[in-house]
Amino acid sequence: MRLPFRKTLDNITAYKPGKPIEDVQREYGLEHVDKLASNENPLNCSPLAIEAVRKAAANLSLYPDGNATELKKAIANFYGVKETEVMPTCGSDEMVSLLAETFLDPGDETIMADLTFTSYIIAARMVDAKVVIIPLKDFKLDLDGMAEAITDKTKVIWLCNPNNPTGTMFTEAELTAFMAKVPENVVVVYDEAYVEFVTNPDYPKDSYKLYQKYPNMIVMRTFSKVYGLAGLRVGYTLANEEILNNVNKIRKAFNVNRLAQVAAIAALKDQEFVEKVHKVNKEGKEYLYKSFEEMGIKYVPTEANYIFVDVGRDCNEVFVELQKRGVIIRPIKETFVRITIGTMQQNQRLVSQLKEVLGK
Ligand SMILES: Cc1ncc(COP(=O)(O)O)c(C=O)c1O
Repeated sequence: MRLPFRKTLDNITAYKPGKPIEDVQREYGLEHVDKLASNENPLNCSPLAIEAVRKAAANLSLYPDGNATELKKAIANFYGVKETEVMPTCGSDEMVSLLAETFLDPGDETIMADLTFTSYIIAARMVDAKVVIIPLKDFKLDLDGMAEAITDKTKVIWLCNPNNPTGTMFTEAELTAFMAKVPENVVVVYDEAYVEFVTNPDYPKDSYKLYQKYPNMIVMRTFSKVYGLAGLRVGYTLANEEILNNVNKIRKAFNVNRLAQVAAIAALKDQEFVEKVHKVNKEGKEYLYKSFEEMGIKYVPTEANYIFVDVGRDCNEVFVELQKRGVIIRPIKETFVRITIGTMQQNQRLVSQLKEVLGK
């Protein structure tokens, strides 16, 4: 007898997170393991955030502020936007699901790239939407292809800039041309989880306020990456009030926990930390580019804190071999892996182990 699981679950593959350090230590009896698999921050987070968490730990028996009022205020002040245009969530990942539930009825079409962030497809399938997949072109989102795929049934388009896992971006001019082709009643989710790492000057300027220019656009950002608060789960969305009021109807009452709220407020105040992370990432990126070139390995230039690398061998094999040597990376497909940029020491260890694995 089959329990009444929803049919759509047959089409959903569970999200596969990066392998935890503890698992690899246990499996291979290793003392030191570097995790370069989940685009986490190698510098941890701002000391101000740690201090705020320490203080807030005195009140763990109390529910958090369900409206995250102070955090909303802090984000609104940081960007100079209205509090009603800001919504913090339990990671931006939660917002992906909330948006699918807000806008997609069964059978509605939703357009996304492949490869891109896997939460979009899980969220869309969860609500029985019809997923229209547009393959990447030269590792970049094919914005022309995505615009051409719009039909009367299209409700939501998912854009990831820079794109995960390839690290590529589209420019302001490309985005403007794309938006000119998108009808006003089609929602564009613009996911900028890695925006703070971008170095290319052609990246869309002041992209946080694109929702003001395009009322059908929703900008998602996170505290998980450059701010280093992935363990606390807090992200935020900037969008017009009407959209956020509707999302608010289905949001869980206490979706952003007490520690996450205070840590995010403190983290925003420490822009020096953000600059330091940006700098370490840029230096790491240049070192890794140079090392890959010396090894004769192809990679895709990145605007994020990870690099999409063609290791020229089965990605799962390379993943396992590196793991045995204390480095966790992410196998993606075929000969492609995604490697998070770490501290210089971590990058050097990765390069030396990769050389060994690939016999370079
Ligand atoms: C492109 C992209 N969007 C969103 C997220 C979700 O981040 P979080 O839920 O930690 O805010 C991630 C996490 O890896 C990501 O890569």
